[in-house]
Amino acid sequence: MKRVERGFEALEASALDATTKTKDLEAVQSVQTGLVAAKGMCATVKMSPAAKAKYGEDTAKYLLDMRTQLIAGLSVSITLEQALLAGDQKAAKDAIAKLEHIEHEGHDTFKSDDEEKKGDKKGDKPASN
Ligand code: HEM
Repeated sequence: MKRVERGFEALEASALDATTKTKDLEAVQSVQTGLVAAKGMCATVKMSPAAKAKYGEDTAKYLLDMRTQLIAGLSVSITLEQALLAGDQKAAKDAIAKLEHIEHEGHDTFKSDDEEKKGDKKGDKPASN
């Protein structure tokens, strides 16, 4: 997720024009690599309070929905890459806005906030890719 964040912040700050194309393509690659890695680590993510309230003991549905949300992000990141490759700035901006929405939806349910995580030492956190 750290890698997703690095790539995503670069894209949000980018002019998204011909002069930034090479960097934008590197950034979208980071977003995708991070999302794929996070998808492989769903099983290691401790349920957030919001997820606990929604899923209770239904771990299978919890994992399925988290994975679905990550794939939604991945799918938009591919649309974003297609827009960047085509030099379509408007489509790229739309995809970035959509990705941000998917991020918020995913975090609202699946991510514990930092306060809740305090004292929860994870060492090399699985989702920090
Ligand atoms: C642009 C998209 C996204 C960005 C920039 C982003 C960024 C981050 C960051 C910075 C963290 C905290 C550091 C970490 O735990 O590695 C995090 C954690 C997390 N994110 Fe995302 N995220 C994005 C999309 C998503 C999506 C689509 C989901 C779908 C479920 C998701 C689920 C999570 C979860 C579950 C955690 C907590 C991981 C843990 O507790 O170990 N994120 N994200």
